[in-house]
Amino acid sequence: MRSINVGILGFGTVSSGTVRILQENAAAITARVGANVQVKRVAVRDLSKPRDAELPASALTTNPEEITTDPDIAIVVELMGGVEPARSLISQAIAHGKSIVTANKEMVAKVGHELRQQAHDVGLDFLFEASVGGGIPVIATLSESLAGNRIKEIVGIVNGTTNYILTKMTTEGAAFGKVLAEAQALGYAEAEPSADVDGHDARYKIAILASLAFGTRVDAEAVTAEGIRHLSPRDIAVAGELGYRIKLLAVAQTAQNGIRVRVYPALLPLTHPLATVDGVFNAVFLRGDAVGDLTLIGRGAGALPTGSAVVGDIAACARNIVAGTTGRVPYSVAATDTPVLPSASAWSRYYARVRVLDRPKALATIATVFGDYGISIESVVQRAMPDEEAEIVWITHEGRESDVLAALTAIHALPVVRSVDAAIRVVA
Ligand code: NAP
Ligand code: HSE
Repeated sequence: MRSINVGILGFGTVSSGTVRILQENAAAITARVGANVQVKRVAVRDLSKPRDAELPASALTTNPEEITTDPDIAIVVELMGGVEPARSLISQAIAHGKSIVTANKEMVAKVGHELRQQAHDVGLDFLFEASVGGGIPVIATLSESLAGNRIKEIVGIVNGTTNYILTKMTTEGAAFGKVLAEAQALGYAEAEPSADVDGHDARYKIAILASLAFGTRVDAEAVTAEGIRHLSPRDIAVAGELGYRIKLLAVAQTAQNGIRVRVYPALLPLTHPLATVDGVFNAVFLRGDAVGDLTLIGRGAGALPTGSAVVGDIAACARNIVAGTTGRVPYSVAATDTPVLPSASAWSRYYARVRVLDRPKALATIATVFGDYGISIESVVQRAMPDEEAEIVWITHEGRESDVLAALTAIHALPVVRSVDAAIRVVA
């Protein structure tokens, strides 16, 4: 039986899971691949750190180039994170004839196109299933299983940290800051939470999915991202009373003359397949012209779920090496140049929560301003509050987002209005 050697850059969470799966499921993987797949070397920064998987000490090195240039290694797996030195090491590995597997969404979103092109030009694989949705096989689904479809829309819950925080805010009625602090204490959220809670992690992931789905290169910087810091337990509770859940969504859609790719929190009706995806779970809803609607749900992070996706890619590379057919899925992402359209021209339904003085005509005055901006109202709920105030919750019909926001600015300036406390999109 042929042996195929793997070298891994990094021996942290995902790498440990990957090594454990390759060891514990070796017989099944060998049967499925037609070769023994074994880890030959692993690069780390600190040789003395304890590790969550067992390898002989001689397999560890602090010099990643011993892996990227080793003629006995056929597949290089990058699990370090960050753009550099990952990018340079991968480029070096491709130049030395290695197939590449990575879980690094930031690197794939920012410079993946150039590395994919480099690998494709020399007939090598560059696979990145684990970069989006952890263990959910969404990249293979989009690039292979749905190859016969024109994809119309992708709506994803692709960040487990924010989904965990929003779920806790929903079930406990707790404020964002309190839940974040608890999640940090439990190790679910990073000490520096910005990448997750401000939507950057989701931005990288939806840029990757949109590039694949629409056959264009979506620059992560062109993806507008709103996070969840501003969401209040009050809006989560009111949304719940109205039959909605609030989720951080990564959305990519076809539109006239381009595509829209954005990250934002939104109200989802309980009937939507993503509305009840809770905790650290991720899910991706896809709409294709042939397949119709499809939802993939699973664990979006963690050693074994993410390792599962990494090992799937390693097996795909190894199978191709055995068959002599590497680079089987063509790199066609640069084939079209579809523009990513600006957010302001998008149309959405909105939820708006407005606090007013409880006076005659307050509601009518606000409704008139919405009407002046061409925004039609779908429903209104008003509640009396203490101190002669009232809270009015509006759900609008679909309107141009810039018009809805301009109307809310004008509403904020009305003498009868105390504050506009929330403006959140509503997804059908
Ligand atoms: P991690 O636990 O921080 O591990 C990173 C590893 O890379 C460490 O072993 C570190 O070595 C090593 N490393 C970093 N820089 C290095 C360098 N210059 N030379 C040699 N080794 C270096 O990270 P992770 O959570 O496994 O994430 C790895 C990648 O997977 C990231 O791109 C991440 O975005 C992605 N990802 C992670 C998850 C998840 O659940 N964690 C899910 C999906 C995708 P030392 O251990 O010696 O410091
Ligand atoms: N920080 C990411 C999350 C890890 O919370 O989903 C998986 O990419």
